[in-house]
Amino acid sequence: MIRREFLVRGLGAAAASMFARSVFAQAAAQSMPMGDMPMHGMHDMHDMASMSGGMSMQSPLAAPDALPSGAPLPALRRLANESREPGLFRATLVAQPVVRQLLSGQPATQFWQYGDDDGGPVIGPLIDVNEGDTVEIRFVNRLPQPSTIHWHGLPVPPDQDGNPSDPVAPGATRVYRFTLPAGSAGTYWYHPHPHMLAAEQVFRGLAGPIVVRAADDPLAGWPERHLLVSDLKLSADGTIPANGMMDWMNGREGQFVLVNGALRPRFDVNGTERWRVWNACSARYLRLTLGVGQTFDQIGTDGGLLQTPRRGLTELLLAPAERVELIVRAGAQPAQVSLIDAQYDRRKMTMARGRFVPPDADRVLADIRLTPAADARELPARLRTIVPFGPAAAQRSVVFDEAMDMHAMHQPGASAGGMPRGMKFMVNGSVFDPARITLTSRRGEVEHWTIENRTDMDHPFHLHGAQFQVISREADGKRAAEPFLAWRDTVNVRPGESVRIAVVQREAGDRMFHCHILEHESLGMMGTLRVV
Ligand code: C2O
Ligand code: CU
Ligand code: CU
Repeated sequence: MIRREFLVRGLGAAAASMFARSVFAQAAAQSMPMGDMPMHGMHDMHDMASMSGGMSMQSPLAAPDALPSGAPLPALRRLANESREPGLFRATLVAQPVVRQLLSGQPATQFWQYGDDDGGPVIGPLIDVNEGDTVEIRFVNRLPQPSTIHWHGLPVPPDQDGNPSDPVAPGATRVYRFTLPAGSAGTYWYHPHPHMLAAEQVFRGLAGPIVVRAADDPLAGWPERHLLVSDLKLSADGTIPANGMMDWMNGREGQFVLVNGALRPRFDVNGTERWRVWNACSARYLRLTLGVGQTFDQIGTDGGLLQTPRRGLTELLLAPAERVELIVRAGAQPAQVSLIDAQYDRRKMTMARGRFVPPDADRVLADIRLTPAADARELPARLRTIVPFGPAAAQRSVVFDEAMDMHAMHQPGASAGGMPRGMKFMVNGSVFDPARITLTSRRGEVEHWTIENRTDMDHPFHLHGAQFQVISREADGKRAAEPFLAWRDTVNVRPGESVRIAVVQREAGDRMFHCHILEHESLGMMGTLRVV
């Protein structure tokens, strides 16, 4: 019997590929002795040898230099407004398979993309709209799966927000319609949210940016730069591989981290720029720096401008799904700097209890030439008014928890059928059930939510339908008040940490809240909030 058949019959193809790509790749990458890997159900070296042989069944990942780098930063495509009516933004977004020739000598890579196939980077087009606009998007689903479009962070009516309970069937069309209220200016994005399929649809390419502008923006007219960061996991044969066990457990991280779809692009900053940065990665945390000694100012978060600028920062952590607005200035002398994703330990797990994957080394995302210019742009001391919420009418508790059944995870076929077995990511003790209401809120009432992370790794908490204010963070019995007022829809929660937020939901209906490591969301680390 050839080894391949033995493997398929003995272990199941899915289990074999899962082990090949995760456990063994991991052990090899970290030169961890195999004896350290848990081998429940794998009793002898013969089993292990046949599993290593299984690696040949799965195409290895493309080399880190397999994609070209160093090209000029691509601009984001823009979604054209088909309407002539003032105050109405009307457009069509088609989600469809597209191909790109990425690796020479290999078949073209199949992506899923929003919008026209213009041959450019696979990022949904920028939706650039104004407060007060009515947005009407006709969504055409040409994917082989049901899908939805979720307007991440925007205060849209619950029945227009692309909830998993509102799927658009393959081949079907639906119109999403909402009006952007005053005060909603900020940096948002859109992505699919179908039940258990969101992670896959995003890693195949479906996500796009949204900017909402205010008429009274104090920085209107400042040069603006858009940097959408995503990552791509690509096999050497040009395919986008399915998730393996480690992707499900820690969230998927591609070996290529792209800015506006390009690997390590370059651009020039002349004088002062306002940057909007999106972390559109499924699971990758971005600890952004411009290198040693290079400072920047933070002026905004997910839900728009801060009340006052945070000046002179040297680094800023952007969890998956978070956005940020920055001011970057060229100094008095020309300089060459890099946008770097610096090392951050989010406590990725191995398949052995109590063991963690070491964090990635620093990585350059883009190269930047700073050129002095006499633009005399000064930030106002106050960017906008953010009124803190008053006393809470109700308290809600969200607990992130996990249960790893190591034995089940190592069983043959544990990741068959696309979803792994033996791994539970939970909210308030349960995995997501579309039929269950996890929490109930009254519309118009201020609530304080405590989000507690009882797991061993970081999870970014995200709530639909409203921007919230972080009040405080507590860890090791010490509570720290949040040092600045900001509007957010996503906040990172460290292992053992509790984050308190204040929030008001304005409309009745069902809202989702979940971990924005998309694999965890798709595995059920999500709840339904019913607003009455
Ligand atoms: Cu970015 Cu529930 O979504
Ligand atoms: Cu969302
Ligand atoms: Cu998570």
